[in-house]
Amino acid sequence: SDLHAFLQALPKCEHHMHLEGALTPSVLFQLAAKNKIQLPSDDPAFTSPSTLAERYNQFTSLDDFLHYYYIGMSVLMDASDFEALAWDYFTHASADGVVHAEVFFDPQAHLSRDVSYDVVLAGFMAARSRANSEFGISSELICCFLRHLPAADGLATFKLDAVHASFSSGQVVGIGLDSSESPFPPELFKDIYDAAKASGLKRTAHAGEEGPAAYIKGALDDLDVSRIDHGIRLAEDPALVKRVAEQQILLSVCPISNVLLRCVSSVAELPIRMFLDQGVRFSINSDDPAYFGNNYLLANYCAVQDAFGLSKDEWSGICEAGINGSWCSEQRKEEML
Ligand code: ADE
Ligand code: ZN
Repeated sequence: SDLHAFLQALPKCEHHMHLEGALTPSVLFQLAAKNKIQLPSDDPAFTSPSTLAERYNQFTSLDDFLHYYYIGMSVLMDASDFEALAWDYFTHASADGVVHAEVFFDPQAHLSRDVSYDVVLAGFMAARSRANSEFGISSELICCFLRHLPAADGLATFKLDAVHASFSSGQVVGIGLDSSESPFPPELFKDIYDAAKASGLKRTAHAGEEGPAAYIKGALDDLDVSRIDHGIRLAEDPALVKRVAEQQILLSVCPISNVLLRCVSSVAELPIRMFLDQGVRFSINSDDPAYFGNNYLLANYCAVQDAFGLSKDEWSGICEAGINGSWCSEQRKEEML
């Protein structure tokens, strides 16, 4: 779009990006070979990086994507793999003009393969430190729990010594909830969120992506979150729209993800104009860029611009709301504003 240079130069924060979603098909095949991981032989998508990328263009739903997402991450074994994954993301983020990134990771999906939490964390911490010194990108880590697994599994993970240490040291700033949304309502995970609140952790949850607006309400009422990831189905509940605006809840919207996972048929269908008119705060995000056509953050900004033709002032306001809704220090916010 004609605002491309303007959008690139805006100081952008990203709040909804799964580091495991930065695994490109070519890195996936390289790491599978290095780590001697057998990829599925009964799915022709795994013939080569290009056949896999082609399959990624044809996701039919969130669960269809998640099937490939969990196979993909099975190639991640040692700390250098996790570091390379996060570094790949940060190089794209830097090129796109990202100044601050709050990124998700899914420890249960690694613990279940006997990859320790400390291995995952060490790789991510190394990449974050390098991104800060080489690119000036600040970042925070958000530990996500998988809603397709029993809540007891999530709570046991939350209570692991290594997990607790990452919270109390500030290496991990908060928690999230992701994976298959329906039929796993937020209230199932109340115990984890109560424990997180008691520990002073920030809290967010995926809600209203494929699931109903009632899941957004449930995340606010039962999990006491200060952000909602996706939240696009908020539009179905006008009273809830008012509440989200009043409580200054930030929605982390992922436009290209929503189209490719068939939550909406086009970016123009997203309630962006309604959010702006009703004072609902939101940021724009890439979700799982390596699975969604290598569309990193700037491509998502441009897709929104192409669909809605926002003014420069509206874009500056969106980025300002993103800075204010970030979970970094007040000092870092001042630097970015
Ligand atoms: N895990 C990675 N990306 C996700 C998404 N968009 N929704 C739910 N879980 C996810
Ligand atoms: Zn997500």
